[in-house]
Formats: sequence, C-alpha cells, structure tokens
Amino acid sequence: MPTKKNFTITTPTTIVIFGVTGDLAQKKLLPALFDLHRRGVLPSKFHIVGFARREWSDEQFREFATTVLKHDRHHHTARELTAFLRKLTYARGNFDTLADYQTLKRRLVELDKKFGQNICSNKLLHLAVPPEYYPVIFKNLSHSGLSIACVGEGEGWTRLLVEKPFGRDSATARNMDAQLGALFDESQIFRIDHYLAKETIQNILTFRFSNSIFEPVWNARYVERVEIELFEAESVAHRINFFDGVGELRDVVQSHALQMLALVAMEQPQGMGSAAIRRERERVMRSLALPAAGTLLDTVVRAQYRGYADDVKNAPAPLPSGKTASQTETFVQIKTQLKSRRWRGVPFYITAGKALHRSKVKIKVYFKQTKGCFNCPAGPHEHPRNLLVFRIQPQEGIAVHFWAKRPGFKNEMVSKELRFDYHEFSDAAASLAGSRRERIPDAYETLLFRAMRGEQTNFASSRELAASWRYITAVLKHWKQVPLQTYQKGGKGPKNLLLKINN
Ligand code: BG6
Repeated sequence: MPTKKNFTITTPTTIVIFGVTGDLAQKKLLPALFDLHRRGVLPSKFHIVGFARREWSDEQFREFATTVLKHDRHHHTARELTAFLRKLTYARGNFDTLADYQTLKRRLVELDKKFGQNICSNKLLHLAVPPEYYPVIFKNLSHSGLSIACVGEGEGWTRLLVEKPFGRDSATARNMDAQLGALFDESQIFRIDHYLAKETIQNILTFRFSNSIFEPVWNARYVERVEIELFEAESVAHRINFFDGVGELRDVVQSHALQMLALVAMEQPQGMGSAAIRRERERVMRSLALPAAGTLLDTVVRAQYRGYADDVKNAPAPLPSGKTASQTETFVQIKTQLKSRRWRGVPFYITAGKALHRSKVKIKVYFKQTKGCFNCPAGPHEHPRNLLVFRIQPQEGIAVHFWAKRPGFKNEMVSKELRFDYHEFSDAAASLAGSRRERIPDAYETLLFRAMRGEQTNFASSRELAASWRYITAVLKHWKQVPLQTYQKGGKGPKNLLLKINN
C-alpha cells in the first residue's frame, strides 16, 4: 500500500514563477499550487516567489492571487486561502536585466534563512513566459548563478520547468535544447506537454498493458485505423499575437497529438521508469514515415476559419510581420503511418482545429471487420467492426463499442457500448496524498507535483522532442504544396477532408 509519505514532498522547496502576472500563472499555476497546498502534499517549508515586471509589493501580489483564486474550480475556505497566501512573495524584475536576477538570488537566500539556519531549499524555476524570452532568461540564470544548486542542509536541487513551444522546427528546437543543455543536466529539465499529465492520457499505458484482452489485438492484424481528434470550439481571436506566428501544426500536433499517438502505438516499456517510457515514446515518433515531395496532397489538409483575417486586423498588438493576409492554418488533418512491424499499413489520422463545432479530444481505435459475421443483416451491408474510444475530454472515460443480438424473433444486431466514466472517481478516488480532499488532479497539479518529485514520465525528453520535430519539419518542408482551404467558424472543418468529421 502506498503510504502518505510516498505522496508528499518533505524537503524545503521554493518555486520561482517567471512571468507570474501572465495568463498561464493565473489560469493554471496559482490554482494548481493552491490545490496541492490544500491536499497537504507540499512541505511545510515552502515558498512561491513571483517574478515579473510590475512594481508590486508582496501584499499586492497576494491581492492579485486572491482575485485569481476567487474563480478556483473548487470550493475553499478563507482559512485555507490565508494559509496559502502566506507562502507567496514577490520579486520585481525584467527578464533581460541581470541585476534583477542577482537581487532575486539574494532574496532566495533570505527566504532560505527564514526556513532555518543553513537551509538550502530545492528550487523549481518555472518559465511561464513567451518563448522569445527563453534565450535571455537562460543567459541570466546562468550569469547570476541561479542555475546552480545551493549547498546546505536538505536536498537542495535546482530544476527548470519550461513551457512549449520548444522551437519552430528541428533546427530551432535543437538550438534551444543546446542552450538549455549547457545550463542544466537533462535530469533537471522538465519540458511541459500538459497533455501527458491529463488523467485519461496517463491511463493509456495502464489500460493497454494491464489488460490481457487488448494487447493481443493491438496491431496491424486487427486494427484498421487509429484516429486522434483534437477539436476546439474557441477561435484564436484573443491570442492571435501568439497563434499567428505558430499555427495549428506546431501548436498542438507537434506536441499533444504526437504524444497521444506515441502512447497508443508504443511497445511495452521495460518497466515503469521514466527513461524506459520516454524511450518507447521517442521510438514511435522516430518511426513516423516522413512525407515525400508530391505526396502531401494525399496526406495533409490545412485550412483557416473564415473571419481569421478580422482577428488579425483586430489583434491587440500589431503582428510582427504587420501582415493582414495571413496564411496561418487553424485546422490540420494528417494521415500518417509508422514504419514498425506492429503497425505496418495502419493509417493514423490526426485532426486538430480551432473554432470547430465543439470542443472534444478523443482517440479512436477502429478494429477490422470480422471475417465471418454472425447474424449480419442480409444484403450489401458492411460487416460490423469494433471501436475503442479514449475520451480525453470532456466526459473523460473509455468506451468499447461492440455488437449484440437484439432480443426478439428477428435476427437483428445492435451496436452497444461498454463504458467507464471518470466521474465515477470524482467523489471517491484519485487522492494524491490519502488526504481528506479526494479530487482528480488537474494536469498542472500533476506536472508541478511530479517535477518536485523529480519524476519525468509526464514530461518530454530532449530526444522525443528531436524526433517529433524531425517529422513536423518534414511536413513543413512541403507545406506550401497543400492549398489552404477555408471553413466556417463553428463548423466541421473544410470541405475537402481525408476523413470526414462526423460528430
Ligand atoms: C495548448 C495550445 O498547448 O493546448 C492551445 O497552445 C490549446 O492552443 C491548448 O488550446 C489545449 O489544451 P486543453 O487542455 O484546453 O485541451
């Protein structure tokens, strides 16, 4: 039985959030840290230091956090909030001013002294800033000595949490990785892909490798195709400044979609350690067949929702290129294959888009038709097939669709579903600490918790990143060969698709 001790962090720890006034800190990081605090998994010696440009005092930072946490998804008491706010400290600074990092460093030393004589707390540095700031932050972390762990009582590790996007193609990703690698060891770097921390996605390996009924049919002999769908109903109007320079392929396919594909397709890892799991995920990405010139028309669709030009025109800040006729895609559909024996000939479809008819993320595994269909209706009907669905969101769960005989004198078949829903857990299970609060953790809670424990399974390795960019860069090479279609906002994507969107 896991003990509570296994699921807590006990050594003094300080989290520094760079860009604490930004969207990510407000929407995800502060709520996640608050939740972890209330679960009782954080050490008693714990500080959160917010680093940003605004001229704030600690008190003003706490007021900001109070406002942010008012909208927390879970009910909390005033006492819980006060206890959390006590952990917050603010450090004003510009990302490009070395002196501000030196001041921050002195501040961290003072905070450690408050923990006790000779204490050197663990430092988790979270870069919640736009990626264009990474190079200057890396440089200043290095020059100020903040990248070096202090020495004293306690573990005193230093780790870095970095948000995507990691580069724009193979070359830029490699370059960024080299800069990171010069400062930190791979074991200190935690590259965030928050999809890897979603409960349903973490469940894929347990589901595949702990149930003997699925693994034997998890291959080209039985699987007809796999579909990964990442649909979002929201447009990108409010974050056009970020999105227009990125596009859907780099935004979610390079990261979230390829990670989902890797988990569905990977071989059994040798054990549950992060190195083994990350190696198998990387292998899948490396085995993606690279598109050749002239083949993209049959394997890639790219499109932009109508009205995107208005979003560009009304951008909160002028776009770097000053352009209005943007060719950035908001929708992508890709058909790909893996060069492995297990998946020979099986198509994997990835469909991802913004401003679609609904928000939902699913992985669907379609099995081949049966050879001798029993009870199939006479006539030119298709033989029935089975379908397995991982519902990532909303209504997280897993469903297996199968066929059964309808009761009665007629020999009729009906499609039925065996399903499991995560809401069954919401009141009872999923406690991180065996604490009284038993809620399914949000992805960011899991990420912060795992990083503090030094567990890297839910983070992308340098090699995975290189493998995913290798594939995406090959697609980008011939990208312009594919005409940019348009589609209606709130609709089911463009007219010409490789595979229709049916629900
Ligand atoms: C982010 C992308 O990584 O994931 C966003 O940058 C996208 O464009 C988001 O909206 C989707 O995450 P979630 O958790 O809302 O499905």
